[in-house]
Amino acid sequence: MHLLIPAAGSGRRMGSQRNKLLLSLLGKPLLSWTLAAAEDSQHISWIGIMGQKEDFPDFQAILVDLSLTKPVELIQGGATRQESVYNGLQALPPDADRVLIHDGARCLATPDLFDRSAEALLGCQGLIVAIPVKDTIKVVDESRIVRDTPDRSNLWAAQTPQGFEVKLLKQCHAEGREKGWEVTDDAALFEKCGLPVRIVEGEETNLKVTTPVDLSVAEFILRQRNK
Ligand code: CTP
Ligand code: MG
Repeated sequence: MHLLIPAAGSGRRMGSQRNKLLLSLLGKPLLSWTLAAAEDSQHISWIGIMGQKEDFPDFQAILVDLSLTKPVELIQGGATRQESVYNGLQALPPDADRVLIHDGARCLATPDLFDRSAEALLGCQGLIVAIPVKDTIKVVDESRIVRDTPDRSNLWAAQTPQGFEVKLLKQCHAEGREKGWEVTDDAALFEKCGLPVRIVEGEETNLKVTTPVDLSVAEFILRQRNK
């Protein structure tokens, strides 16, 4: 199974000077943790990383340090996550039939989560890893007045990996570009094209490191795991 890792962001909400994936987490760059989990997954056989050119030397250094057994390719990222994934899809080897896409920033995903996703993807066209939401979610208007309280039993928080048939996802991305759709995950493009997206139960610890608090929480979780 092929894996694409969007890693071309700037980490604006982290408030750091550089790509947050290069920040240190327990002495290793955040991206190394993500890559180490992908390396340990039984099903993943090829890894593509979408990044900005200026980060490539740092990415190369991470790869040298990890000395992964799997082939890895660095791919030019885009201005948005959507564009980065689009570029990644174009760079997949021609024999890639199904692809998992996993945010570099979700550095606590386990090899087991990759493997469960890969196995489920053999039986469907599209899937996302997600967990039931714990909070009550409010729909709020521009004046900050609550307009609705959706039934929580129908609400799931989307994570990555997300997985798709390559041919279908390429078509969805092409249609999205043509119609100017702007989305924050790939499943949204699949949905807009009327294609089914299945849920795979995610992991509560599979957080997306977005703010400095997330970095501290991630560090705490890794320390617990390594005990
Ligand atoms: N990403 C990407 N290309 C972009 C923007 C984001 O590949 N142009 C990647 C990020 O590197 C990250 C994932 O998409 O692994 C999820 O994005 P997010 O958490 O929003 O990261 P950033 O965009 O870097 O953070 P921010 O939105 O706070 O700037
Ligand atoms: Mg972003």
